[in-house]
Amino acid sequence: MMRIDFFTLFPLIFTGPLDSSILKRAVNRGLVNFNIHDIRDYTHDKHHTADDYPYGGGAGMVMKPEPVFEAVEVVKSRAADMTDQRPAVILMTPQGRLFRQPVAKDLAEKDWLMFICGHYEGVDERIRQHLVTDEISIGDYVLTGGELAALVVADAVVRLLPGVLGSEESLLHESHTGRLLEYPQYTRPEVFRGWRVPEILLSGNHGEIARWRCEQSLKKTRERRPDLLEK
Ligand code: 6GU
Repeated sequence: MMRIDFFTLFPLIFTGPLDSSILKRAVNRGLVNFNIHDIRDYTHDKHHTADDYPYGGGAGMVMKPEPVFEAVEVVKSRAADMTDQRPAVILMTPQGRLFRQPVAKDLAEKDWLMFICGHYEGVDERIRQHLVTDEISIGDYVLTGGELAALVVADAVVRLLPGVLGSEESLLHESHTGRLLEYPQYTRPEVFRGWRVPEILLSGNHGEIARWRCEQSLKKTRERRPDLLEK
């Protein structure tokens, strides 16, 4: 079973996504175990200060190192069932390496992932230098914090764990995605507001259907993501 720990100042962001749909099913099947830790619980001053002004001046606040180190270290030491395993400690930051499907596949091989969710203007550099083993960004845009990005990564990783998807779902998707965009899908009714389902899909000719889908995938990829075809 994979273990995933999230370290955050906003634990409520995680509850809905981890308690829904396929991630919830993965937990119920005993394939993954999620733990959410509020970094503020590891502060010791009266005001539970987790961030502070940047040395050298400038706008915004910086996440303090002590609560983040303490949270990660306490959770590591309490995990008696993970005796000889060392977690990947992943900082979610726009400065990280770009998250793509091969990174998801690498992470899916590990037993224990920790996600540190940066907020505000950033985190004290010593967290990067002395606590973290990896830094990941999910794309070239700016989020208000690392929480949604950590959930994106966790979702992409957990769906790769054996037993999480039905065999039908998983085979269907892995052969195709990452190379080509999906072909169009239809379900009932056959005519909706006058718009018909393509005749070929009702033909029962599975050879012709497979060919049509392949053509549609290529066409859509050429139009929208020609970069995927170069590879
Ligand atoms: Cl990991 N964090 C933030 N704040 N923004 C991002 C991101 C992460 N990945 C893309 N944008």
